[in-house]
Amino acid sequence: MADSLFIVMVGAPGAGKGTQADLISARLGLPKIASGDLFRDNLQRQTELGQLAKAYMDRGELVPDGVTVRMVAERLSRPDCTQGAVLDGFPRNIAQAQALEAILQERGEAVRLVPYIRVSEAELLDRLSGRWMCRAAQHAYHERHNPPKVPGVCDLDGSPLYQRDDDRPETVRRRIQVYLEQTAPLLDYYRQRGLLVEINGEQPIEKVYSEIVGYLAGYRHDLSEVAGRTRADA
Ligand code: AP5
Ligand code: MG
Repeated sequence: MADSLFIVMVGAPGAGKGTQADLISARLGLPKIASGDLFRDNLQRQTELGQLAKAYMDRGELVPDGVTVRMVAERLSRPDCTQGAVLDGFPRNIAQAQALEAILQERGEAVRLVPYIRVSEAELLDRLSGRWMCRAAQHAYHERHNPPKVPGVCDLDGSPLYQRDDDRPETVRRRIQVYLEQTAPLLDYYRQRGLLVEINGEQPIEKVYSEIVGYLAGYRHDLSEVAGRTRADA
């Protein structure tokens, strides 16, 4: 319990939350819980929740808090989350942050670290327009910054790559606006609780990762050596 590690990745659409969450989750052996991935998975399976979420996602709006919180709470209740989890895209407003706090509190747990990946708006547009995702596990690639070894195929699981419907420029602009209005207030929320660490997201993926690992080493001693090594390599 006291050793559990719940991490909340925060950043604008395209900042690199999913990319870093995959790396951290693999390194720590904790599940990644990405609300957007859960909605897309529901959509692929043509569930009622998937249909409902699609209407909001296509417009770049947030899916209502009630269904979103229920979906994440259910995921967090599974046995693989007893040691913690890397949350990506949730919470996305103050109400969701309070809901998460209540869910964890009931288990005697709490959010331990909130890495905020800061990236300029021009860079976000470039990243999302060149992004390709894998069908099987939603690993993210970029045609220039992070290309797959074989074009159109995921390095990790061999599944085909596709471009997300909500990565069209007009939807991306709305997603960024929604982020600024509804999600950015979370930065102060977590800063006031002493949990926020700010990371310059306009560095290579490995450098962003090593900075996050540096912060995590304070919680997991087995990471100190990795953090030291990655800092020395930088
Ligand atoms: P979601 O899927 O969460 O999307 P998002 O927050 O808009 O973020 P993205 O996934 O687009 O970006 P990312 O930060 O993960 O970047 P990535 O690592 O892929 O949400 C989608 C929709 O679902 C929402 O609009 C909403 O409708 C709904 N939803 C989800 N959660 C919700 C919630 N909690 N409440 C209500 N509604 C919710 O990287 C982007 C690209 O950049 C990739 O190509 C990558 O290869 C590249 N890249 C990454 N890092 C670097 C780097 N350091 N340098 C260069 N390139 C990089
Ligand atoms: Mg993502």
